[in-house]
Amino acid sequence: MMNIAVIGSGYVGLVTGVCFAECGHKVICVDKDEQKINRLKNGIIPIYEPGLDQLVLSNQEQGRLSFCNDIGPAVEKSDVIFIAVGTPPKPTGEADLSYIEDVSRQVAKAMNGYKVVVEKSTVPVKTGEWVKRTIRFNNKFGGDFDVASNPEFLREGSAIGDFLKPDRIVVGVESQKAAELLQGCYQPIIDQRVSFDISSGKVIHQDPQDRHVPFIVTNVSSSELIKHASNSFLALKISYINAVANFCELAGADVEQVAKGMGLDSRIGTKFLNAGVGYGGSCFPKDVSAFLEISRELGYDFKLLEDIIEVNQKQREIFVRKIKNALWIIKDKSIGILGLSFKPNTDDMREAPSIDVIKALQLEGAKIKAYDPVAMDNAKQIFGDTITYCNDPYEVAQDSDALVLMTEWDEFKNLDLKKVFDTLHYPIFLDGRNVFNPAEMKSIGFEYHSIGR
Ligand code: UDX
Repeated sequence: MMNIAVIGSGYVGLVTGVCFAECGHKVICVDKDEQKINRLKNGIIPIYEPGLDQLVLSNQEQGRLSFCNDIGPAVEKSDVIFIAVGTPPKPTGEADLSYIEDVSRQVAKAMNGYKVVVEKSTVPVKTGEWVKRTIRFNNKFGGDFDVASNPEFLREGSAIGDFLKPDRIVVGVESQKAAELLQGCYQPIIDQRVSFDISSGKVIHQDPQDRHVPFIVTNVSSSELIKHASNSFLALKISYINAVANFCELAGADVEQVAKGMGLDSRIGTKFLNAGVGYGGSCFPKDVSAFLEISRELGYDFKLLEDIIEVNQKQREIFVRKIKNALWIIKDKSIGILGLSFKPNTDDMREAPSIDVIKALQLEGAKIKAYDPVAMDNAKQIFGDTITYCNDPYEVAQDSDALVLMTEWDEFKNLDLKKVFDTLHYPIFLDGRNVFNPAEMKSIGFEYHSIGR
């Protein structure tokens, strides 16, 4: 059993804290947002993440998880301190590390013995050196400490499963002592004593398993870089298949077939080859930009990253052009949007492709109706009352001149397409996520447009 503090109770911090508590550790989650901490103490979770609320409640009840908004006592009581505060992008695309610096200073002032201070937030390479320097300057205790890196690879919508059943755990350390303490934190996950059953969506506790999760121990810089390099490579895969999709439309090929043929090569793999309107979210856009900025700072012209960003941005513009080509005049047309969140199973609207597409159509004078199973409240923060929020997909289709699918929620995959066809004003359907079968859509009578097919 380890004493762990997690500073920052956003997506990564909250999931990290509750999963370590579920592993049997004593965890204090800290956040400077007093209201958020009070809500968490009352079991109110600030984010939509399947299974998180029950796990927070049960671990609080069992006394393994607590919340406070004061870094001092949390640091004093803990051996390992995870920094999981935001690293939002600056206008330049560079990562804003001011929250990391602020927390490093406060942690240093509260140190009352040896501690391992761990970067859990996504940070550019070499950040660990700055954290170490900041702690040394502010460490009133003056004693020994370690700074380590431990990037997180969880995805929104499947965060708990991704944390408890990861492909690998990466730690960047400067001492054996730090490596051992971090291994201590993760041991129940390494031997899968604590794991996750994807089919039932349940956390499972079992005997240690023979097949262990790889525990990668490297230096701090390599560990920091593994995160940026991994996310940028996944973004590259998406931009690549989107570029191939655009080429398929010119060549009369089918990107789904092409992706299948490519993906069966185990060196390529089928995952993250789904063509669509491009990637969004709180990670890929910001991480690719931050990686590009740090590479420029260190003197490497990483042109490939620029292309990933450009293809992704263009994918939205190409889709808007498709809508125009289908509707001729956009002005005063009623366009229905199915899905607003950047991907299914999350209410997150950050960098959602729907934002760019809706704003471009509004600029042309379109009237927008939209529905999303969980992201409406967050969407209202962005669009206010400039769009009509519907109660279900059929209300969106009702008398619309075109229907546009932006997020591939399961709810939309099970639509009564005949009913949609009958309610639409024009039978125009634009599918930004290749959810439906073109032949079937045409057989119903839709003028159906998708990506790369
Ligand atoms: C991502 C990484 O997957 C995760 O490891 C990291 O820790 C955080 O960033 P997340 O942003 O939650 O996770 O979403 P992810 O499921 O990776 O999807 C990212 C974006 O790519 C979404 O907009 C999704 O729609 C898009 N995408 C994904 C595609 O367009 N095609 C694909 O084949 C896969």
